[in-house]
Amino acid sequence: QTIYLKDYTPFGWHVESVHLTFRLAPHSTRVLSKIRFAPNPDAPAQTFFLHGEMLKLIAAKIDGAPVTPDVTDEGLTVAVPSGAFLWEAEVEIDPKGNTALEGLYMSNGMYCTQCEAEGFRKITYYPDRPDVMSTFTVRIEGDEKVKLSNGNPQAEGDGFAEWHDPWPKPAYLFALVAGDLVNHPGAFTTMSGKDVELNIWVRPGDEDKCAFGMEALKKSMKWDEEVYGREYDLDIFNIVAVDDFNMGAMENKGLNVFNSSCVLASPETSTDANFERVEAIIAHEYFHNWTGNRITCRDWFQLCLKEGLTVFRDSQFTSDMRSAPVKRISDVIDLRGRQFPEDQGPLSHPVRPESFQEINNFYTATVYEKGAEVIGMLKRLVGDEAYAKALDLYFDRHDGQACTIEDWLKVFEDATGRDLSQFKRWYSQAGTPRVSVSESFADGTYSLTFRQETTPTPGQPEKAPQVIPLAVGLLNPNGDEVLPTTLLEFNQSEQTFNFNGFAAKPVPSLLRGFSAPVVLDRDAGREEQAFLLAHDTDTFTRWDAGRQLARETLVDMILTGATPDMAYIDGLEAVLRDETLDPAYRALMMGTPSQSELAQVLADRGHVPDPDAIWQAAETLAQVKAERWTDLLPRLAAEAEVTGTYSPDAEQSARRALGAAVLSLQTRLDGGAAAEAQFARADNMTLQLSALSNLIRAGRDEAALKAFEDQWRGDRLVMDKWFGLQIAATTPEKVVPRTEALTAHPAFDWKNPNRFRAVMGAMMTHHAGFHSADGAGYRLLADWLIRLDDVNPQTTARMCQAFQTWRRYDAGRQETIRTELERIRSKQKLSRDVDEMVSRILGT
Ligand code: ARG
Ligand code: ZN
Repeated sequence: QTIYLKDYTPFGWHVESVHLTFRLAPHSTRVLSKIRFAPNPDAPAQTFFLHGEMLKLIAAKIDGAPVTPDVTDEGLTVAVPSGAFLWEAEVEIDPKGNTALEGLYMSNGMYCTQCEAEGFRKITYYPDRPDVMSTFTVRIEGDEKVKLSNGNPQAEGDGFAEWHDPWPKPAYLFALVAGDLVNHPGAFTTMSGKDVELNIWVRPGDEDKCAFGMEALKKSMKWDEEVYGREYDLDIFNIVAVDDFNMGAMENKGLNVFNSSCVLASPETSTDANFERVEAIIAHEYFHNWTGNRITCRDWFQLCLKEGLTVFRDSQFTSDMRSAPVKRISDVIDLRGRQFPEDQGPLSHPVRPESFQEINNFYTATVYEKGAEVIGMLKRLVGDEAYAKALDLYFDRHDGQACTIEDWLKVFEDATGRDLSQFKRWYSQAGTPRVSVSESFADGTYSLTFRQETTPTPGQPEKAPQVIPLAVGLLNPNGDEVLPTTLLEFNQSEQTFNFNGFAAKPVPSLLRGFSAPVVLDRDAGREEQAFLLAHDTDTFTRWDAGRQLARETLVDMILTGATPDMAYIDGLEAVLRDETLDPAYRALMMGTPSQSELAQVLADRGHVPDPDAIWQAAETLAQVKAERWTDLLPRLAAEAEVTGTYSPDAEQSARRALGAAVLSLQTRLDGGAAAEAQFARADNMTLQLSALSNLIRAGRDEAALKAFEDQWRGDRLVMDKWFGLQIAATTPEKVVPRTEALTAHPAFDWKNPNRFRAVMGAMMTHHAGFHSADGAGYRLLADWLIRLDDVNPQTTARMCQAFQTWRRYDAGRQETIRTELERIRSKQKLSRDVDEMVSRILGT
């Protein structure tokens, strides 16, 4: 059953208040609800339907009189009065039997909830849609030491706790947690002087991994006050770490629930990247308090309204806390690695989709990351001041409402006087625009002509031109900047921009800061890229010039067996030797496009990508760099050395990032000797893991893997790394056998999403290993997806994405993948989630 944006109608009733009582029991929790309904005069009809799934209805009353509703698998209907009335129900649910991790479930003996998007209907009968907002009062009865819900604590006594949330909210923001938890406390005073109690709640034993998260929370609260003028609005803010969680974290009002991997951190057990991610996700969920909770979405088609904006805000936060250029480049790597394949394949959908079967399938890189890019473009187009003005207006005008993208764009139109009707296509049109460019120079005038094209995507055969903000600069042939960054508004199919007054033809630096999520096809030759790598003043385009040189030499190596382009390697060396550049930036410079990205480039150019040949080319390029840089590597290694106490800050992690890039080349020269030494002396996870990764790659990993397992078998998050890395870092022929062997390991708890993803996620992202010609990778993944679907459809559906690029490959691989997808689809009791994903991937 497909749901359409165009079919939206408001619910017939307002919910004036909600009172819930939970009598907790693992297999038979009782939920008693008292809900006050009043007619909604803006609705076309007072139709009364309450969502409800997997509920056992014990009793129901209207205004105190027992009623017998008509109940289906999806909810209930019942005759109701024409005016306001009180609905009461008692239902029984089975948290312990809930393996889908949606609604109320149990994780390691602790009760917790996940209600976004449509999980509340598994807790009680309710109009489970984001435009129905109400205040909630919650009573929890049970023996658990800690019992939490949204809002402020109201009463507590022997075996019960009561919470009241004064802010009207949709049911997807409801949360309940109960268990024998311990807290890491903290405090924050808001800008108007209100004291807020802060807590991070964890299982006993994890207390020592909360300090960093707590600091991140305080920084986020401060930043949102300073940059967006947003103050926290309750007396208490709780975060809970949960081991079994389908996603990263959830912004429930006043009670954020986190995947433990996204909040727990300590130097011994977490890498620098983990610390940065924890900081970013804590910020993200906290920022949702205004962009998501105070102002929420009218319906799930508007998901990007809160997610795109909140991702944009968390990336601004990270840029302010750490290095802005490094953050921007990392975001672009992520976008090209995850969102572009989605946008250019069978799962392509607009930032605001127009239909879905299962909304959980639309928590995508397109909605989140492209959604954030769209906001970045808007900010660039209107300027920082107008952006701030528009946001003030947004908070002012829409506080307490459930809104749409139309509301969002209207505040920008009203604040700036701009017509955004063409810009709105970024929300409705799927696919990545390709921009090609040509240039001319005559009589001192330099001209750039751009063309844009978006190829058809599922359901959208015709594409109209979009508004593409192109940040450009010009350099003269000596390498001096003659036109500083200038924003061009490119909004037609083809458009020419002229620049006057040049003595010689300048060199263009295009798409500075990655000013739009497009593919730029500039076929200007390697000399220009090498020139930009040496001279560009924009940190993004400079990095990207190196990236393009790497891509072109790799493509040559793959297609013609050419040797690596020494101009690229030497140009890169010059950059790496520049000690005025941030070590983290130089570490990024040392990276090359992923093998999957190379496969896409080859496919775009009409070749059938051969995963083994791509693997081989990447190996050869790294080997040649290592041999060429015998003099450079020790210098960089010395620079990467960190003295003093470990800190996950930008400065130290930059050095370690450079060190890791150096070690991976060094290992090609010494067979793993340096890695072994690093492994032996490592006193933090960043160094330990980069050493282990290189030992795995070098095939010298038996003792190290054993030692690592012995050291960490009691720490589930570290063991996820152990499981994943031995697949991710190994050579292609070992990928499937190792994955298979690890699924037989006693600690392979496949019902835990983190563990499942550690293993299967590592296999599917090892390009040459997963795409092994015999199809063993495809079969193994399909076997496990079929198994997991009965337990956890949401995570299963997500991992079907491994197959989304199948049409790139040769006929044999395509046939095998098609067979595996059909096999998944014909499984007994296939979930709606997986059915939708597989059908979209197959295109039938
Ligand atoms: N709103 C959460 C976050 O960004 C994601 C929750 C998604 N959960 C889901 N089941 N689809 O920040
Ligand atoms: Zn979010």
